[in-house]
Amino acid sequence: MEHAVETTLTVNGTRVTRRIAPRVHLVDFLREELGLTGSHIGCEHGVCGACTVRVNGEIVRGCLMLAVQADGGTVETIEGLSDSKELAPLQKAFHLHNALQCGFCTPGMLMAAQDLIQSGRKQSRDEIRAHISGNYCRCTGYQAIVDAIEEVLNGQS
Ligand code: FES
Ligand code: FES
Repeated sequence: MEHAVETTLTVNGTRVTRRIAPRVHLVDFLREELGLTGSHIGCEHGVCGACTVRVNGEIVRGCLMLAVQADGGTVETIEGLSDSKELAPLQKAFHLHNALQCGFCTPGMLMAAQDLIQSGRKQSRDEIRAHISGNYCRCTGYQAIVDAIEEVLNGQS
């Protein structure tokens, strides 16, 4: 049987310690062990961005990072950022602009967009598109997503 490694993470402000098999990816750990199913799993190859979470303040692909690699670190998920209201302006703008349809990409898209907003710099639409280019959306055509992000980022729609 695979050797499990004691791992301690602070997830959405709560310290958790678990014995985790080294092969378990962070997004699987969050979803299956902690029940945080807001982070989605699409491609499992680092391409689609559905699994985007924040580790030590930086967004990462939860399907590429092993849970044990985050030992001692902080992890923030869509649930945590929603509860803290950090995402409230973006969530409101996505709603107003109909920037989601099936919603599968939305948690990862919001995490990526918030990363841009945190940078505090105004961005052109092309720069916004470039920033979210690692987050795939099969439904919206991206226009409304860029509108929503632009509204929050630049105070315009
Ligand atoms: Fe991680 Fe697609 S599931 S990038
Ligand atoms: Fe369906 Fe983006 S809203 S994949």
